[in-house]
Amino acid sequence: MGLSEKKILLIVSGGIAAYKINNLVRDFIKKNAEVQVLMTPNAEHFVSKLTLSTLSKKPIFTDFFTENGTWNSHIELAHWADVILVAPCTANTLAKMVHGICDNLAIATYLSAKCPIFIAPAMDLEMYQHPSTKQNLESAQHFGHQIIPAEHGELASGLFGLGRMAEPETISKTIENFFNSAEHSQKLKGKNVLITAGPTYESIDPVRFIGNHSSGKMGFALAEEAAKLGAKVVLISGPVSLNINSKNIDIQKVTSAKEMFDEVFKHYENSDIAIAAAAVSDYAPKEIAREKIKKNDDNFTLELVKNPDILKAMGEKKTKQFLVGFALETENEEQNAKEKLIRKNLDMIVLNSLRDENAGFGNDTNKVKIFTKNSEKDFPLKSKTEVAKDILGEIVR
Ligand code: CTP
Repeated sequence: MGLSEKKILLIVSGGIAAYKINNLVRDFIKKNAEVQVLMTPNAEHFVSKLTLSTLSKKPIFTDFFTENGTWNSHIELAHWADVILVAPCTANTLAKMVHGICDNLAIATYLSAKCPIFIAPAMDLEMYQHPSTKQNLESAQHFGHQIIPAEHGELASGLFGLGRMAEPETISKTIENFFNSAEHSQKLKGKNVLITAGPTYESIDPVRFIGNHSSGKMGFALAEEAAKLGAKVVLISGPVSLNINSKNIDIQKVTSAKEMFDEVFKHYENSDIAIAAAAVSDYAPKEIAREKIKKNDDNFTLELVKNPDILKAMGEKKTKQFLVGFALETENEEQNAKEKLIRKNLDMIVLNSLRDENAGFGNDTNKVKIFTKNSEKDFPLKSKTEVAKDILGEIVR
């Protein structure tokens, strides 16, 4: 618990408050955290690299390139971190972060990061009050970053007011509280979760396919939420153009149902929970034409053969897995969903309603009813992120 073994990437930018960072690093190290300091070029005027590297027991990075011809990988640094803390964060560094102005190693690392970001602004009274700064702080919050607010007091300029960087103890406590509450809610820690998402494309010829309108949003939201609960997630996705934010998600892209089937069974045995959110095509062309099919006759017949039912196969091979399927029905919704729960040997089935025009395929919202063998629960129309939380909540329960 706490900061022990946590990896903190500390970005120090060039403000007078940088002199307090030595104490902060010392505190982190005392609490057993690992600290990697990155400095912006201007920060070097305010605090000594030697002091920081001695306290953090690591070299301090500022430049992309080193004197011996190698380079500091911003991607490796970003992926190493459990959290990034920018302290002190000057008006300039804040503006660069918010607008993606990538002219130093610290900003490149920030832009490559998937972990939570904390910002401790420090600036003079007028700068802190400026609409531009206010707007940038709002944007940072909008990105999901947490601001550790500046405090009231005497400022380096001699002015008195809001703008002083929060005290090192406050910053340290904020980061510690974050890890404590994150660990408290890690209800799927140590669990392997397998999720299928998106449509499958079944090739007809080199340029055409049979597909469907699935956006993959529900499966991706489930993957992100499961990762937030501490799970190690393998997400097997058909062709969609969505991005993943968490570093605990291993995403495997596939195209056809057969490819999805093969990929699923590379990971299934090792999974504790498997959720089939993909809209798998039930049929595929019997043969894929090698050349583009030319239009000749008025009628054209395509012979289709049944694809493997991935979820059913998972049900048949079930050992320890908690298996969850989705059902999309247009008639006898509940009866069909319950029947699928039994037929596919599932532990839970999520019925998507097609009756609400904002729910289901392609939408950002969904309305579901969740069935297990001996329970059923109705949920109102919600964002897919909220629906993912509900589904995982039920799984955890
Ligand atoms: N599914 C699957 N592989 C398939 C077809 C479906 O893994 N080849 C999974 C879906 O990911 C979903 C569930 O099965 O979790 C139900 O899909 P759905 O299309 O509603 O049901 P089907 O089994 O295809 O039955 P039907 O189309 O007859 O309703």
